[in-house]
Amino acid sequence: MIKINENYKKLQASYLFSDIAKRVTAFQQANPDKHIIRLGIGDVTRALPDACVKAFHAAVDEMANDATFHGYGPEQGYDFLREAIAKGDYQSRGCNIDTDEVFVSDGAKCDSGNFQEIFANDINVAIPDPVYPVYVDTNVMAGRTGQAEDGRYSGLTYLDGNKANGFIPDLPSEPVDLIYLCFPNNPTGATATKEQLQQWVDYAIANKALILFDAAYEAFVQDESLPRSIYEIEGARQVAVEFRSFSKTAGFTGTRCAYTVVPKDCTAYTASGEAVSIHDLWNRRHTTKFNSVSYPVQKAAEAVYSKEGRSQVQELVTYYLKNAKYIREQMEALGYDCIGGENSPYIWIDAKGDSWTFFDTMLNNAGVVCTPGAGFGKCGEGYIRISAFNSFENVQDAMSRISGAL
Ligand code: MLT
Repeated sequence: MIKINENYKKLQASYLFSDIAKRVTAFQQANPDKHIIRLGIGDVTRALPDACVKAFHAAVDEMANDATFHGYGPEQGYDFLREAIAKGDYQSRGCNIDTDEVFVSDGAKCDSGNFQEIFANDINVAIPDPVYPVYVDTNVMAGRTGQAEDGRYSGLTYLDGNKANGFIPDLPSEPVDLIYLCFPNNPTGATATKEQLQQWVDYAIANKALILFDAAYEAFVQDESLPRSIYEIEGARQVAVEFRSFSKTAGFTGTRCAYTVVPKDCTAYTASGEAVSIHDLWNRRHTTKFNSVSYPVQKAAEAVYSKEGRSQVQELVTYYLKNAKYIREQMEALGYDCIGGENSPYIWIDAKGDSWTFFDTMLNNAGVVCTPGAGFGKCGEGYIRISAFNSFENVQDAMSRISGAL
């Protein structure tokens, strides 16, 4: 008899964004004439940068000719893209990252979800709350938790984010081995300073722990004093893996391309205390389970690093940040406390009440989709997240509808 992985029974019935999509579809079916404005899931709406489109087309033409056709590529990604990333995103900013420490993938969601599987099941895992649900759910699936009770799984160390700490969690009071951090933060839009990240890196070094640093939103950092990468922090090469994505910066949510940086200095330990290279383990896992991203998509991603690509990506980021500023100003004018939206495409809003109720009010009375903070953890209850990924016209329309509805 085929048996299930019982850990799946501990999960919520459906993934947060699937749950929201179902509610929105039901609302649309009941109100077919209503134009719904989606400021929920962080899905970009503007076209790919022209430089990427040109490179994409040219690569498709190569695939159409036997002489220039590409079959399987290297599992870790083509060197042309790995080199462009190492130089363009790290070495040019003073971070010592080599080409072969970059692993190209089809998404930061997959990588941040999969990375935990190279570690033992009895490690202590620290996860911020509120948080991108993938970090929690993948550890539940792996069997590192007990049942959920009152919105929290036993066996995890939750790092509370709240107004008092500006949604930058404090160091854990108990020893932990694996730490998830995300800055600029999804969902809150909060950003961490170099000094704050230094504390985490020092903690990880002292405790032989590893930080999984999700930097998917780094391109939105405008304040030059804020770090864009964990590798701007001294010692991070020993204790941090970084996830990045072309999704939110270059509009690749539907095209799929991302990467993970695994420095060769990162070490984990066997049960008997022998040191093992995390880079080697991840390489082993990646080459077994993944065949990289298609050649045309990697060529399109490489174009992000061309002169034209850089300026077109900057134009997209500036566009979404204008939306974010507008949303934040409008919500504050309506009397709601907000954070985020300055170095982040997300605005985190104190809903002054139950977050699913606020979600329903926004959907039913304004036809606007947001994300209820409770979906990101217990500390998210009472908040909602509004995403800046839409056209400015839709954002203006949404804010005027919200103003009428509240
Ligand atoms: C979000 O809305 O939190 C993100 O779009 C989800 C994701 O990137 O998977």
